Amino acid sequence: MGLRRLFLKYLHEMEKTENTRCPLLEVRGIPLPEPIVRHFSRVEKFQAFKGDLLIATYPKAGTTWTQEIVDLILNEVDEEKCRRGPTHVRMPFLEMTSPDPNISGMAKLEKMDPPRVIKTHLPIQLVPQSFWDAGCKVIYVARNPKDSVVSYFYFDRMNLTQPEPGPWGEYLEKFMKGQLGWGSWYDHVKGYWREKQNKNILYLFYEDMKENSAREVIRISEFLGQHLSKDVVDKIVKLTTFAAMCDNPMANYSAVPDTIFDRKVSQFMRKGEVGDWPNHFSPEEDAVFEEHYHKMMADTPIPFRFSLSE
Ligand code: A3P
Repeated sequence: MGLRRLFLKYLHEMEKTENTRCPLLEVRGIPLPEPIVRHFSRVEKFQAFKGDLLIATYPKAGTTWTQEIVDLILNEVDEEKCRRGPTHVRMPFLEMTSPDPNISGMAKLEKMDPPRVIKTHLPIQLVPQSFWDAGCKVIYVARNPKDSVVSYFYFDRMNLTQPEPGPWGEYLEKFMKGQLGWGSWYDHVKGYWREKQNKNILYLFYEDMKENSAREVIRISEFLGQHLSKDVVDKIVKLTTFAAMCDNPMANYSAVPDTIFDRKVSQFMRKGEVGDWPNHFSPEEDAVFEEHYHKMMADTPIPFRFSLSE
């Protein structure tokens, strides 16, 4: 083989080994990262117990923020205790799989005694049956789709295990067609909404949390059966502002290595705002999106707000 061809082959091999981005495969029609699909039978058999709490969201809805609030409530606002490990170690990500046992949800959960706080992005139909059989409480957080897709776009650019997002316009189309990881945003938010009366689900909105964090902290604590004093609520609000969490290495995902999160591209704690979407949607994209949104949500209207002035 000539020297040039040998060099090109070497470059190709390097690219292959350095590219950690995974394709999406499907579980019952829901696109998920390949490693998750490969071990999904293990996730389906997961044994939840009565006191376990599930925090469920479509990606980028404010999961990490909610996790931090819940951890502070359950640990009586003991700041030190809530810094006992990074978010994904304290509250494992159910379906996430990784050779790193700290990142792999099942590996961590199997070693933790219940009651556990567990994160998932699974749509309701893929949540392991044991959560429903045990009557577990579920906190679902939803965020308006325009801010969600913008946040997801930046996340997919910086998270080197997610599929390459490509250009914004194409990404937005994929979101509308339900082709991104964890599937259709529309089906996700509607699935939990429809079941919130039948199952033990507290349905929250990111926009409400931004508008009045204290009110939503109280709702969460009451759902968890705790009555908090005003001082405690204020302390939780203060510890979970966007700025406070940016500065908290146990809540800002700085523990994830740069080989996975490329922070030169974007930060995990990016903006934390309601209404960033007009900086990304063109007026034409917005018009198409609006029409599609109203069609998709017609059977299950959910009061989403796209700005805090609505
Ligand atoms: P942006 O990309 O719009 O900034 P998740 O935890 O579900 O992945 O959601 C991440 C999104 O929630 C990001 O949105 C992130 O900045 C935002 N976020 C995280 N902590 C927050 C907080 N304390 N207050 C407001 N937004 C927060």
